[in-house]
Amino acid sequence: MNNEKSVLSCKNLSKTFHDGSLYVEVLKPINFSIQSRERIAIVGPSGAGKSTLLHLLGGLDQPSTGQVFLAKQNLATLSEIKRSHLRNRYLGFIYQFHHLLPEFTVLENTCIPLLLANINPKIAEKKALSLLKKVGLIPRQHHKLGELSGGERQRTAIVRALVNDPLCILADEPTGNLDSHTAEQVYQTLLELNDEFNTSLIIVTHDRRLASRMDRVLQMEDGKLVTITD
Ligand SMILES: Nc1ncnc2c1ncn2[C@@H]1O[C@H](COP(=O)(O)OP(=O)(O)OP(=O)(O)O)[C@@H](O)[C@H]1O
Ligand SMILES: [Mg+2]
Repeated sequence: MNNEKSVLSCKNLSKTFHDGSLYVEVLKPINFSIQSRERIAIVGPSGAGKSTLLHLLGGLDQPSTGQVFLAKQNLATLSEIKRSHLRNRYLGFIYQFHHLLPEFTVLENTCIPLLLANINPKIAEKKALSLLKKVGLIPRQHHKLGELSGGERQRTAIVRALVNDPLCILADEPTGNLDSHTAEQVYQTLLELNDEFNTSLIIVTHDRRLASRMDRVLQMEDGKLVTITD
């Protein structure tokens, strides 16, 4: 659980949504831990609770019960400001629909996590550019997000997620809206950078082939997490 090498873990984590008089237990109590440099895939049918789990692990939503530990700190004991600081410092997020800022350029979007961490803008730009180079986006650095292809946007999202040297990347179907060839390229980029920077990775995917390339595959069904391979 919250052991020595774990970068992100949870204990008895559950989530119940209330809809009028209806209570839906979307996540049953979950115990989970990801180690440094480990890569985990979470698979499972639509509505099983995968995104809900990722949101809770990322401190983006409050659990109904249980705790999340990031870099040994219990998120529930932190103020919202401290929690978002910790999140920005140690986690990187990649979503299916990129969640980048459309009116900002590629370079601006990828600098944001560093600027939020009060890094000097010149240094932030240098760091972002070094990563943009690795993903082949230097020629697009001054383009607004709206001018990019889906694959280019997801590569921008990967750079933004990694620019702060996070401990762990949380990716929710990062290639769900790309064609299979572009999806493969984006995955390749993600895995290469992940390797280079020794980042842990939790990836929610419907793609069994990609899932089998991870260290462990967890199946989520009806709000429960079951190990398929380890
Ligand atoms: N804010 C909410 N209020 C009420 N119910 C919710 C809320 N968010 C999610 N749910 C419900 O929780 C369940 C799990 O949703 P979740 O988005 O985690 O599924 P998922 O496994 O990510 O599915 P998909 O593969 O389609 O993305 C669903 O039944 C969903 O309707
Ligand atoms: Mg989902």
